[in-house]
Amino acid sequence: MFALAGFAIAQTVGGPVQSLRGADVDEQVNVPDNFTQEKKRFTRNYRQQPPLIPHSVDQYQVDLKANRCLSCHDWTTAGERNAPTLSMTHYLDRDGNQLDRVAGTRWFCTQCHVPQADAPALVDNTFQASSGN
Ligand code: HEC
Ligand code: HEC
Repeated sequence: MFALAGFAIAQTVGGPVQSLRGADVDEQVNVPDNFTQEKKRFTRNYRQQPPLIPHSVDQYQVDLKANRCLSCHDWTTAGERNAPTLSMTHYLDRDGNQLDRVAGTRWFCTQCHVPQADAPALVDNTFQASSGN
């Protein structure tokens, strides 16, 4: 009872909470889907870059037990799915042993690979791709 009364006072003293979105704090705002996914594979900007993902990943669950990405990209499935196969580095454990299953260190794909959309940079930057020379 005491806690509830305290909360009510805090709300009235500070006035209504203003959010930067211009909507109520708990109000759902649907963001327009302005940016389209490029439907092609991307050139890497430097040799060691994890390639960007050229398709949506919204539907592909990756958790402790399941990994939907592997249903297309694992060496056992990529052929029939017509998808690029994981490179050998994804089947090496930290001691350099070659495995038949994807290494634990490579399980959470989106730790390194991100989907790319045709969107303007959020902040200006002077990054230039490595020319390979
Ligand atoms: C339904 C099959 C399918 C699933 C599931 C899938 N992919 Fe793909 N992925 C593809 C195909 C096909 C391509 C090649 C597209 C092309 O060449 O235009 C591709 C391309 C890629 C590439 C680009 C590789 C390169 O060399 O440019 C990456 C990275 C990638 N996927 C990562 C992922 C990740 C991470 C997930 C899970 C979150 C995932 N994919 C789930 C089919 C799939
Ligand atoms: C620790 C970072 C890391 C994680 C995690 C990771 N990758 Fe990669 N991936 C890379 C790098 C770096 C490359 C490019 C160099 C190479 O092939 O090792 C790459 C390459 C690829 C390629 C292109 C292979 C080729 O030969 O063109 C595909 C496809 C891919 N990854 C998919 C995945 C999927 C699917 C997962 C999750 C099962 C995953 N990766 C997890 C870093 C990562």
